Amino acid sequence: MFENLKEQPADKILELMQLYKEDPRSDKIDLGVGVYKDASGNTPIMRAIKAAEKQLWEDETTKSYTGLAGDPGFADAMVKLVLGDTVPREAVAAAATPGGTGAVRQAFDLAKMANPDVRVWVSDPTWPNHLSILKHMGIPFTPYRYFDSETRGVDFVHMIADLTAVMPGDIVLLHGCCHNPTGANLTQAQWKAVIELLLEKEAVPMIDIAYQGFGDGLDADAFGVRLVAEKMPEVIIAASCSKNFGIYRERTGLLMTVSKNTSRTKLNQQSLAYLNRQNFSFPPDHGARLVTMVLNDAELRADWAAELEEVRNSMLGLREQLAGELRQLTNSDKFDFIAQHRGMFSRLGATPEQVAQLRKDHGIYMVGDSRLNIAGLNKTSVPVLAQAIAKVGI
Ligand code: LMR
Repeated sequence: MFENLKEQPADKILELMQLYKEDPRSDKIDLGVGVYKDASGNTPIMRAIKAAEKQLWEDETTKSYTGLAGDPGFADAMVKLVLGDTVPREAVAAAATPGGTGAVRQAFDLAKMANPDVRVWVSDPTWPNHLSILKHMGIPFTPYRYFDSETRGVDFVHMIADLTAVMPGDIVLLHGCCHNPTGANLTQAQWKAVIELLLEKEAVPMIDIAYQGFGDGLDADAFGVRLVAEKMPEVIIAASCSKNFGIYRERTGLLMTVSKNTSRTKLNQQSLAYLNRQNFSFPPDHGARLVTMVLNDAELRADWAAELEEVRNSMLGLREQLAGELRQLTNSDKFDFIAQHRGMFSRLGATPEQVAQLRKDHGIYMVGDSRLNIAGLNKTSVPVLAQAIAKVGI
């Protein structure tokens, strides 16, 4: 049987992690995988999470199973964090998943269960694992243009032109904020225009929101997802707690559906629980419980929000510094987009050869499409990167 297995394509982001690990150079710089790092290069456990963990150790009395959809308290707290008060709670079905990736996977599964011929529209580019999961599941997908490689902003004219071909029932996958891999995001007016188009086309939006709080703030980053939930009859939302709570390895995410027809919510909820049971049974609980504790305790929540702001501001500072260095070095404003992008990533617009040269000659690791993780930088490495970019002639 095993002789039939074929080698699968390596995940480009995870492959890069390994290459970085194996590089003996002490001055190497890791701008690959999307993990937040502080100025000393550590990925800290957030203060509120550590405090909640301590409290949980004291108070937790059982490790018995939760529900198939996870702890309902987690769903309530996260629905509120993502959607605010935009839709009534009874319009939302929600199930905990193993991380944001688990939510994405379950979302595609749900879509396929509802419509075996479903087609998914994805931004070009998008997070490579979106495409990998869709391929693995045999779900057809169509890219829509998203990124203007000249301005490094959103190519909105072509995005809308491509989405006019969307058919009723198609799923359109949108990044809630902090677009991965480009860092270029829709403006509020553009969100409105996209929603109008999707309403007209009777498409179903799916929002992947993995970086809430990393761009312009917790509420500002939820602008798009909230407007979509308010205006569209049906929405699928995959949320991750990996980045904004810094609990990557705990695998904590939530899949939500919004149905304006609230009589559907019960069946949606049952379908989410059913899919969890088929794929992994009960979702992981530890991270979800910590998130719930943090969100429901005023003091812990305030401390978490403050630390998240520190993280966000530190990335903004690094963006400004890098754009400034490059302005000086190149005597041009062609890299100013770095300060305008939001979230963890920016797509630099370098060729694969230039990316390879940065790695070989300068020990700078970024994904092959020239996505760099801003949080992998610090005040000292920014000028090193800027010099290297100028040298390579990007
Ligand atoms: C990334 O894009 O680097 C992160 O979302 C981590 C991952 O799983 O790919």
